[in-house]
Formats: sequence, structure tokens, C-alpha cells
Amino acid sequence: MSHIQRPHQRPEWTALAEHREELGQVRLRELFAADTDRGTGHALRVGDLYVDYSKNLVTDKTLRLLRELAAATDVFGLRDAMFRGEKINVTEDRAVLHTALRASRDAVIEVDGENVVPKVHAVLDRMTDFADRVRAGKWTGYTGRPIRNIVNIGIGGSDLGPAMAYEALRAYSDRSLTFRFVSNVDGADLHEAVRDLDAAETLFIVASKTFTTIETITNATSARSWLLAGLEGPDEAVARHFVALSTNAEKVAEFGIDTANMFEFWDWVGGRYSYDSAIGLSLMIAIGPDRYREILDGFRIVDEHFRTAPAEANAPVLLGLLGVWYGNFFGAQTHAVLPYSHYLSKFTAYLQQLDMESNGKSVDRDGHPVEWQTGPVVWGTSGTNGQHAYYQLIHQGTKLIPADFIGFAEPVAELSDELKAQHDLLMANFFAQTQALAFGKTPDEVRAEGVPEELVPHKTFRGDHPTTTILARELTPSVLGQLVALYEHKVFVQGAIWNIDSFDQWGVELGKVLAKRVEPALTEGTDIPGLDPSTKALVTAYRELKEV
Ligand code: F6P
Repeated sequence: MSHIQRPHQRPEWTALAEHREELGQVRLRELFAADTDRGTGHALRVGDLYVDYSKNLVTDKTLRLLRELAAATDVFGLRDAMFRGEKINVTEDRAVLHTALRASRDAVIEVDGENVVPKVHAVLDRMTDFADRVRAGKWTGYTGRPIRNIVNIGIGGSDLGPAMAYEALRAYSDRSLTFRFVSNVDGADLHEAVRDLDAAETLFIVASKTFTTIETITNATSARSWLLAGLEGPDEAVARHFVALSTNAEKVAEFGIDTANMFEFWDWVGGRYSYDSAIGLSLMIAIGPDRYREILDGFRIVDEHFRTAPAEANAPVLLGLLGVWYGNFFGAQTHAVLPYSHYLSKFTAYLQQLDMESNGKSVDRDGHPVEWQTGPVVWGTSGTNGQHAYYQLIHQGTKLIPADFIGFAEPVAELSDELKAQHDLLMANFFAQTQALAFGKTPDEVRAEGVPEELVPHKTFRGDHPTTTILARELTPSVLGQLVALYEHKVFVQGAIWNIDSFDQWGVELGKVLAKRVEPALTEGTDIPGLDPSTKALVTAYRELKEV
């Protein structure tokens, strides 16, 4: 699956570089003036999503050249290999099959000659049974009281996915149950999560693909102590209050969780692609199995679209190509994702792992250093808050910051009429921002408002800040699945073009190893041979501060 020709040496790349030169300063006002149908002509519908890319700095030729690059770098061949279950995660020799997690029951997807779909559905069925029992108050704790509090302990993909999706779908959740998500090894996280909970009614879901992640195992161990102290119960009480989500039965058993209470997934599910695996158990308990399956349906809609739609009408392909255009040909370093929904307040944080852990790579699939830019810094928060914080820099700063705006036509049903009425104001801001970013305000327009000449430069908006608008009727479970799949496949497209392995994450290892090495110096004052002078001085300062 290696790409012999490096992407930046391909004629299609050179053609894009030349085209970028020719275009010079792209003026969105001019592009819209030249094509009165641009607003409708540069939009796609995928499932329930309406994706408008008209406010991007592209011409028809740009899009054609970008598609040619995608074809030349074999994005579609790699896509098909992924869906077939081939081991496209080359550095770990693993298949990449998060798409199998939402495959229909009758699908056949083989890894090493074994159809994995029955296993996926068997786990989903067990999760369903368990979630139904908890929701119905039939899963009781050690003292016989029903579970009312669910605490997910996990980090990275074993936290961000369920935490983000729980937040997104709160309006669909059982409000009589309490959900908390603990990830940080900072003891304050667990402390705050459990301080007002009754151990007798609390279930811990320990979520860890490997079941070796130090943060999760440490927090789970402390949670077990908290539970046993609260219950004043014996070790056997743990069985009613702890379940595990993992690929590693051996480690789960070693920790002391009965593997009968383990929900399995597999090494072909990447951590950041895992919330629709067993890792979604807390979410399933929150919203119920039927709603959970609607999320999977949503994922599947976009999977099918990505697999079958022609490149020019393929939304993940298009979003991926736009990112390549800005990152590789405009020098954009970052990409903002700005959801205009309070419920999506954790969506960008979730995408940070999805995108940055996948495409934050500087060697290609063959291990050669890349000579082209790879994944961007992904950032952003939910609107309208950002408008009163950092949008100034997007509008008038010196950097090009492509941004995705995500919004909904309807607020969630349970809001009061008065709060629902605020929705048009929220969305007026949403549309106004992309309009201002695209078209700005010329000095003449500023002058026409009677602004004194010395203030004209300050009040001028250059415009031509590219945005993509993603609109849906409302934030349903299916729409959430569609949105996540859209970004998963966008990240895939970019990784394929950059010829990097988007499915490993070796870059997180060094810090983990060093933390293990440094810890005894902090707790015991042990001398660590070979420790660099800066860290050594800091460790000394830390110990002095600690002892004062
Ligand atoms: O940060 C590295 C990483 O391996 C992520 O990819 C993963 O989501 C996270 O740690 C948690 O890993 P695990 O689920 O094995 O505890």
C-alpha cells in the first residue's frame, strides 16, 4: 500500500501550486459576482446534512485539480482497502474497521478470513441488555439499591467520544440518571465526579482499549477504594459496581473485574474511532439502545456516501481536499470548528483527538520524513461565545484560518418557548459571521457610514476568510453519527493524500515513558541518572515547594 511517488513530487501537486500562483489574491466577492448560482451550486446534501462550501477560496478549476490529486494519490483505492478490512494501519499491522461497528447485521466484513460483523452485533446485543437493565433499575448494586449514577473512567478515545456524545444528546438522555466522565489523572477529577454520589447507587464503567493506560488504571483503582469505603463492603461488592470496556480480557481480570462484566471490542478499532464500539456503553445507558442505534444508522449513511459517491459529490472527500488546499497551498496552520450549538460544546475537543492524533505525523507510511505539511491544529468552541473572544483575530488578524460552521434549524424540543425563540438570534449570528468573514467591509463602505478617515483602516474587514457551513434540521442521534463520520472520513482523505499512517499514535509514547521515569524523583527524591539539567532543576524546585 506504499506510495512510490511522494505527493509533492506528483504533477497534480505541481499543477495545484501553479494554479495557486495564478489565482493570486482570491476575492470571494468576485467569485460570487461571476457566478450568481455559486451559493446553491457549491453545496451538497448528505443524509440530513447540508454542506455549503461556496465561501471557500476555490474555483471550478481548483476543485478539479484537487480531485485529480486525490485520484493520483489513490485515496479511493485506500478507502476501498479500509472498508474491505485490509491492514492499512501499516505500522501496527492492523485493519482499520470502525466502519464495521455500524455495519448492518447481514453485512460481511472479514479480518484474517473471519467475518467480524456477528461479533459486533453480539456485543451490541449484550450492551443493549445491560443498558436496559440499568435504565429499568434492574441492575442493582451490592446493597440491592438500583444504580442511579454512571461514572465512565477512561481517557482519550475512551473518554472524549462518549463524553462529547452524551453532552450532545443530553436532551435525549434519561434525566433521572447522573452521568460523569473522569479522565484526568489529577485526583481532583475523580474527587469532583464522586463527591456528591452515593456509592451504593454508583456504577463505574472502566473504558480502556488496552487496559494498561496509567491514568485510567490509577483512577479506577482509586474509584474502587472510594466504592468499598462508601459501601463498607467486601471486595466482592466490586462485581456489582464495575464493568469494563476493553480489548484486553487478561488485564481486565487482573484488575479484578469479572470478565462476565466486560464488553469487548477489537484491535481494528482505533481509540479515537471507538465511541460507537463498546466504549459507547455509558452513552447507550444515557439515551437508550434505540437512540444509540440511530447514531449507528447516521454513521452508516455517511459511510455509504463516502464509499459510493463520486468524488465531486462526496462530502468527506471535498472537506479533506479543502483542508489540503489551505494547508499545503496557502500555508494555513490551523482549522477552526465552530458549532453553533451549546450541546456540541465538546465536539471540537473530540475532533482534536480524531484529527490531530491521526494526522499529526512527520514521516510517511514508508518512514521517510515528509516534506509537506500534514494535519492542522484543530481548535474552536461553540458559538456565540467565541465571537466575544477570539473571532477578532479570525476577522482582522494576519493569519488565514479556515473554519467550519455547524448549525441547526431547530433548537431541541424540550426548551421553553422563550428559550426556543432565542434560536433565530443564535443562527442570525451564525450566518452573519460567515457572511462577514467571506465578504468583509471595504474602506468605501466604511467611509459611506461617515467613519472618520483615521478610523477607516481599523473598521475595514478584508474578507476572503474561507468557511464551510454545515447545516441540519436538528441535532438528533442520527445527525450526530453523520457529523462524526463526515469528519472521520475527511481525516482519512487527508492522511491518504499526505501518505501518512492516520491510524497509529506513536507520538504519545515518549511522554508516557518519561513520566514513569520521573515519578520516583518526585515522590521519593530518587536521583535519576542522565536527567537533563532543566528537568532536574525543576524537579528540585518542585520538591522544595512541596516540602515548605
Ligand atoms: O493517547 C494515546 C491513546 O492510546 C489514545 O489513542 C487512546 O484513545 C488513549 O490513549 C486511551 O487508550 P486506552 O483506551 O487504551 O486506555
